[in-house]
Amino acid sequence: MMSKKHKYIYILLSAIIATAAIPGCSDIRNTAFEEAETAGLPVPALLEDSNSDPEVADYELTAQFGSSTFFEDKKTQTMGYNGNFLGPVVIVKRGEQVNMHVKNDLDEDTSVHWHGLKVSGDKDGGPHQTIKPGEIWEPSFVINQPAATLWFHPHVIGSTASQVYYGLAGVMIVEDDVSEELDLPKTYGVDDIPLILQDRSFNSDGSFNYNSNMMDGAVGDTIIVNGAIAPTLEVSQVKMRFRIINGANASNFNLTVDDGAQFHQIASDGGFLESPVLEKSLFISPGERAEIIVDFSRFEKGQTVAMKSGDSDVMYFRIADSQKDDTIIPDELAEIERMKIDSSTPVKRIELDGMGHMVAINGRKFDMERIDDVVELGVIEVWEITSAASMMHSMGHPFHIHGVQFQILSRSSGQLSSNELGWKDTVFVAPGEIVKIMVQFEEKGIFMYHCHILEHEEAGMMGQIRVK
Ligand code: C2O
Ligand code: CU
Ligand code: CU
Repeated sequence: MMSKKHKYIYILLSAIIATAAIPGCSDIRNTAFEEAETAGLPVPALLEDSNSDPEVADYELTAQFGSSTFFEDKKTQTMGYNGNFLGPVVIVKRGEQVNMHVKNDLDEDTSVHWHGLKVSGDKDGGPHQTIKPGEIWEPSFVINQPAATLWFHPHVIGSTASQVYYGLAGVMIVEDDVSEELDLPKTYGVDDIPLILQDRSFNSDGSFNYNSNMMDGAVGDTIIVNGAIAPTLEVSQVKMRFRIINGANASNFNLTVDDGAQFHQIASDGGFLESPVLEKSLFISPGERAEIIVDFSRFEKGQTVAMKSGDSDVMYFRIADSQKDDTIIPDELAEIERMKIDSSTPVKRIELDGMGHMVAINGRKFDMERIDDVVELGVIEVWEITSAASMMHSMGHPFHIHGVQFQILSRSSGQLSSNELGWKDTVFVAPGEIVKIMVQFEEKGIFMYHCHILEHEEAGMMGQIRVK
């Protein structure tokens, strides 16, 4: 059933997709440059399921070198999945069996980690599933979690951060009966659009200036969205759904639309919130996702509206035409059963500490040969995560766990905001703060947990847990 529907969407959108490829299909982007002052927003193509069985999907991804155009007349050496930069969007459906075929066409090791996906450790794509150049990795799994915006990226020891920086990242969308039935914008590429937010530094010849030695991770001076600098998206006066992925190596974004226009957040990392949350700004740290709905009917035809992070322009929306929009954002989106804990619930303490290459978790650096913790399948635990603050240096860390979606229990800094009550796999821990989360693994195997500042992860702010 799902497959039929996706096929329908696929046909419906083939025209759009043909003209809205990933950047680096650079002719298209150059045209956009000429026609407007800024590039049009690239919308990643949907990856085609090569299996005709509606209950089984087969997807092929190839990690490869590419060449992209961020500036007119300048080429940037990049990496991408099935293309020059970033990758296609993989749509999977709850209950469906998915067979992935991941090929490494690079000249270095890589892996593909499904960030946010609940699969067993051997399918997770972490450092234990390294793919050598020329090799193919073929994990199969059944999708067993609610509709959500997930993503995938490399996770190999020593080059996760650089490979993501060069462009290896893609979006995975999980659909289920809830997402298909809710009256929300859901036509991919039309009113449902992923926004992969990243930042980069460039050399004068257009090449990336990737500096892994920056004290607090590789922070760039140029924000890119889906691989384009400050792009423009033409929108009608309708409600648009954006699936926002912070795919930056180290930067947080604090997003606003038109200097404080309200929008609704409908989902966090692991799926829909129970009800939409009205916001004027959205804080999103590396690894996190949020789905928001912006109602453009409040703006005038011809107007250009900026999305900003702090003072920096992230992208623009040009209000193109009026169109009838009957969608009413539902008050109830999904049911989220709150996890229950009591005085017998086991507690783990995780201290994120240090800066630059001096980072550690509980005083230890990552060691592939060491299992840092063991937890039993299905047992609820409380993890108390702290970001050590010192006189010398203090910074926040986005803490991520593989293979699970957790719930935030509390923040020592104050009340949880309503958009923090849904499923999460990454949580920002501010300096000096204690964030408690409730974790229940439903899959066995070895899983990583780490700071999602990729240079911190690379420098050893990562541990591994065995779920048995
Ligand atoms: Cu995006 Cu180890 O994860
Ligand atoms: Cu992950
Ligand atoms: Cu960190």
